[in-house]
Amino acid sequence: MDPSTFDFAGYYREAARAARRPERTPEYWDARASSLSDRALDSEYVRQFVARMDFSGCSTLLDVGCGPGAVALAAAPRLAHVYGLDHSPAMLAAFEANARARGVAGATAILRSWDDDWTDVPACDIVVASRSTAVPDLEAALRKLHAMARRRVYITYPADGRLVADEARLAIGREAAPWPDYLCVVGILHHLGLHPTLDYLPGDNGLAACDDFDSFRARIERLVGGLADDEVASLAAYFAARGERAGLEPMRWARLSWEVAENPRLSPRRAGPARGASAS
Ligand SMILES: C[S@@+](CC[C@H](N)C(=O)[O-])C[C@H]1O[C@@H](n2cnc3c(N)ncnc32)[C@H](O)[C@@H]1O
Repeated sequence: MDPSTFDFAGYYREAARAARRPERTPEYWDARASSLSDRALDSEYVRQFVARMDFSGCSTLLDVGCGPGAVALAAAPRLAHVYGLDHSPAMLAAFEANARARGVAGATAILRSWDDDWTDVPACDIVVASRSTAVPDLEAALRKLHAMARRRVYITYPADGRLVADEARLAIGREAAPWPDYLCVVGILHHLGLHPTLDYLPGDNGLAACDDFDSFRARIERLVGGLADDEVASLAAYFAARGERAGLEPMRWARLSWEVAENPRLSPRRAGPARGASAS
């Protein structure tokens, strides 16, 4: 089969459905806003993300799924205005509080979901989606990001087929189907006529950093909800043995970026699966 004819967008949609991740509602993210705000703002991931950005010719940035604003606010000193878009009111409150705490005057929060109408969302020189691309329809999301950007787009996507929450579920013996591989992102962009640059960033895997069982258990409970007694026992065994196994290694993020000016218009959506496509 010629891989360039493979229907990556259709495959992604099927694989994301098959992974059966629990729905992440705004309320789910609201409950995580303060812990994410404590951890995400000052990390090696964010430092490297921003250090590798090209700000030339840019004065505005839109951060989609901005959370507490880790990327937007770290980039703000290089820009005139940053916009944080998120569907979680508590995340946006944290974004605004963090902007004030850092003395960033040019920061605007936008309460919006990926699926909403973005007609009134301002187009920006740079558009970012950091650790926020686990969407049901990745092709639609990438088209939307591209349409909002005047110069460049930066996104990150799990590089190892797993998310920290998946790892937590595996640790207690709950099923965790792999998330679609990041090659889907490369394939979809290729079909859209875009030529992304690809590199990798270290993940902030709080699980890997836990030294004692109580903090490890508390983190797992935050990620997956309450634990049954037998799950606590499995978790204790997992924690005791983790030095000998490959699990809980820091995860990596694939970072993909592209220049909008090279391809202001995308290839049209395909009518159906391409020759040789398979969603199984
Ligand atoms: C893992 S956090 C990443 C936050 C931030 N971008 C970072 O890198 O630290 C994912 C964020 O995406 C947001 N999000 C999830 N689904 C969303 C949706 N459908 N529409 C808008 N935002 C969404 C969540 O509320 C959360 O703030």
